[in-house]
Amino acid sequence: MEGNAKVIEALNEILTAEMTSINQYFVHAKMCENWGYQLLYEDTEERAMEEMKHAEKLIDRILYLEGIPIVTKLDKINVGKMVKDQFENDYALEKVAIQRLQKAIKLCIDLSDGGSRELLEHILLDEEDHANDLEAYLQQIKDMGVENFLTTQVHEKGKS
Ligand SMILES: [Fe+2]
Ligand SMILES: [Fe+2]
Repeated sequence: MEGNAKVIEALNEILTAEMTSINQYFVHAKMCENWGYQLLYEDTEERAMEEMKHAEKLIDRILYLEGIPIVTKLDKINVGKMVKDQFENDYALEKVAIQRLQKAIKLCIDLSDGGSRELLEHILLDEEDHANDLEAYLQQIKDMGVENFLTTQVHEKGKS
């Protein structure tokens, strides 16, 4: 079904945000794994996988609307040198994604594209969850200090 060009453009902008997140989170996850922060590695990798599922759904929707999914475009990837920087940089990406989603949802309502709107609302809820998790991590670091926080993220041997 041929979709509105403005909606397709908005879906592609959100796809760019997803592709950027996938790359940034995946690098952060692997850095955490390398440092031995197993729990952080698992959590960040899971977040990257969720962004990948969003990208897949957006690509499906753009194709359904007879548009061309743009997967080669990325926003700036900000790799954090330390865990706190990683959280801050990831949080900034989530905020950008949330803003883009809210704008695109409004556009879908204006142009009566209920299917795209529903997909975007589903993605928005996930991004709000991601932002909330990152806020919680940053708050924990503030409350207990980064050293104490990191001791909670080391996987204990023999404990699954
Ligand atoms: Fe996402
Ligand atoms: Fe996200």
